[in-house]
Amino acid sequence: MAEKFVFDIAESLLKKLTSYAYQEVSRAYGVYEDLQRIKDTLTIVKCLLLDAEEKKNQQYALHEWQRQIQYICSDAEYVLEEFELQDKRKQVVKASRSTSMKVRHFFSTSNPLAFRIKMAHQIKDIRDRLDKVSTDGTKFGLTTINVESRLVVQRREMTYPDVDASSVIGRESDKEEIIKLLMQPHPQGNGDGDKSLCVIPIVGIGGLGKTTLAKFVFNDKRMDQIFQLKMWVCVSNDFDIRKIIIKTINSATDSIFSSASAPTSGLIHQENINNLDIVQVVSRLRQKNSGQKFLLVLDDVWNEDRANWIELKDLIKVGAPGSKTMVTTRNNSMASMMGNVPPYVLEGLSPKSCLSLFVKWAFKDGQEEKHPNLVEIGEEIVKKCQGVPLAVRTLGSSLFSNFDLSKWEFVRDSEIWNLKQKKDDILPALKLSYDQMPFYLRQCFAYFSLQPKDYTFLCDDITSLWISLGLVQSLNGRENLESIAREYIDELHSRSFLQDVNDFGSFCVFKVHDLIHDLALYVSREDFVAVDSHTRNIPQQVRNISIVENDSLDNDLFPKSRSVRSILFPVLGVGLESESVLDIWIQTLRMRNLHLENFLELLTFPRWIEDTTDTLETLIVVNCPNLKNLPKCLITMSRLKRLYIRECPLLRRILLPSDMHHLTALEDLQIYDCPELYKNYQPQCGKYWPMIAHIKSVSIEEPSGEEE
Ligand SMILES: Nc1ncnc2c1ncn2[C@@H]1O[C@H](COP(=O)(O)OP(=O)(O)OP(=O)(O)O)[C@@H](O)[C@H]1O
Ligand SMILES: [Mg+2]
Repeated sequence: MAEKFVFDIAESLLKKLTSYAYQEVSRAYGVYEDLQRIKDTLTIVKCLLLDAEEKKNQQYALHEWQRQIQYICSDAEYVLEEFELQDKRKQVVKASRSTSMKVRHFFSTSNPLAFRIKMAHQIKDIRDRLDKVSTDGTKFGLTTINVESRLVVQRREMTYPDVDASSVIGRESDKEEIIKLLMQPHPQGNGDGDKSLCVIPIVGIGGLGKTTLAKFVFNDKRMDQIFQLKMWVCVSNDFDIRKIIIKTINSATDSIFSSASAPTSGLIHQENINNLDIVQVVSRLRQKNSGQKFLLVLDDVWNEDRANWIELKDLIKVGAPGSKTMVTTRNNSMASMMGNVPPYVLEGLSPKSCLSLFVKWAFKDGQEEKHPNLVEIGEEIVKKCQGVPLAVRTLGSSLFSNFDLSKWEFVRDSEIWNLKQKKDDILPALKLSYDQMPFYLRQCFAYFSLQPKDYTFLCDDITSLWISLGLVQSLNGRENLESIAREYIDELHSRSFLQDVNDFGSFCVFKVHDLIHDLALYVSREDFVAVDSHTRNIPQQVRNISIVENDSLDNDLFPKSRSVRSILFPVLGVGLESESVLDIWIQTLRMRNLHLENFLELLTFPRWIEDTTDTLETLIVVNCPNLKNLPKCLITMSRLKRLYIRECPLLRRILLPSDMHHLTALEDLQIYDCPELYKNYQPQCGKYWPMIAHIKSVSIEEPSGEEE
């Protein structure tokens, strides 16, 4: 959610404030004490933000309060950047004494005294505003919440095995497949009976119908013939082994008593075992289950700790040969860790089943026959759901007994993430998966929202984008960032966020399910905007934008604020045609990252690039086959840290060799698939290699050659 981003922004600013480099610089400029005070207040405000997250639904003003914090952080970051920039200027002055002609203009503004006075004013302003929000936070009744003790994931609803089989739509063949697996002898059994427990995982994104399918199987009559004992345990996000075993015993007890029509005795019994310790409950489980062929369903497992699972598995492995455990989970790697047969990867419902389900939720029995026009719109609506029944249910029930055509059209024409959602609806359900992710993945995930739906991601592209934005971090500072970023992709894949993953060895592509894309839009909506022709507003605090449709830029659309830091043009040839708008707009920004890709006709850089020279940290230029030169103003980009150039065959050099030393900040240079650049900058033997040899990380790959 946006407020998570405010928290993340505050956190990253705090990291900067504590870094050694800033402490040194702030001492040199005599503002150390002031920045320390800002840091202390921000630490408190950050903890208040966590409380605000919980309470913001009750108090709308908190929303505004959070926004103010975001603005303050953004301005504080600007101040820190100014110090950094001033430092770089000094370095360049030193380095360029001999060629000062070219850079004289650039330094004409840097009068040290004027700079100090200006900065002192800005710091005071930030300090005062931060003090005020901190006091306001207390007035709102917020209390500081310890970051470590914060409950990241809200509790899940319990599930029960009961289901009305006739209400389950379109899962007959899945049911048969699973029953086949349950009836098979354990593939890893040792002949004389299955000593190890056979575990069958069902995996898929939230709301896809894993639990419903498990219930459907559990209640099939054949299960009662195959298994003497059936047990259903909702594990959810509390993987406490003792509790799971108690629930298992209770579930078994329930089923025994319920068949004997004596449920009250079951309840009395449950109370007794709830007080037993782990040794006693395990012995009770053994008494109950040993020698019985059982079916145990562990529904909704989130535990990622393999040791926990192994311990539980060893304890529950007490049934007769042929006993089976079925597990439902959203996480692929968890499924592989727990299962000893390949996970059953659940697919979405067919469009026909989705429509039946939608009609069931949107109309009272038979009512739909009177509204064929609405059913037709319903067909369009369910396409958004891409086979996910919870999404179908969410949209269907939002229109229940509503025959107003315009309301239906509104739902059809709106993005799911823009529609109102109740607690158990699809986006809150998927958001649990987002909340569960570690902080570094949450940030990377949000960048999916900058690409259009159904976009084919190239792993290398997205990983270099993450790296360039500083989102990929090596814990010990030594690991290779590309491989860490690749692990992030694997992790997102295992959390069922990616689909159609195809690894071709030299490159890998994937897509993101539409609903997952909706989730990315939903969680990042106030910070990221993909601008298309439907975009009517860019919120003031947006920090990252991408232009995904031609002619979508319009002067009125752009925010007045200067918060935007990154601009991406991810779609083939789209975006630069609005040069006049960008010309005006970019001057007002402190643009840090620019990603230009797939501009097949581009001969020279647009003029507005000159307005980014003071602030640009990352420049990525990909697949511009007609581009002959990089911009001349590159020479004044004293903050440019990363320069990635790919598939630009006509480029011969980066700058004039004599100018290369101006790029004092450049620490990461990548050149791929650029034959002329390769020739000139080839490590050790290229004629311009000595000009770049000092750069900390240089990666220049020989072009792979023309495809046959
Ligand atoms: N085949 C189906 N027929 C009818 N309704 C379904 C079907 N599958 C799922 N649903 C509906 O979608 C909702 C979500 O399904 P379910 O709880 O089984 O998803 P899940 O994959 O287990 O989600 P989670 O990952 O959150 O546990 C159910 O409450 C049910 O209303
Ligand atoms: Mg479930």
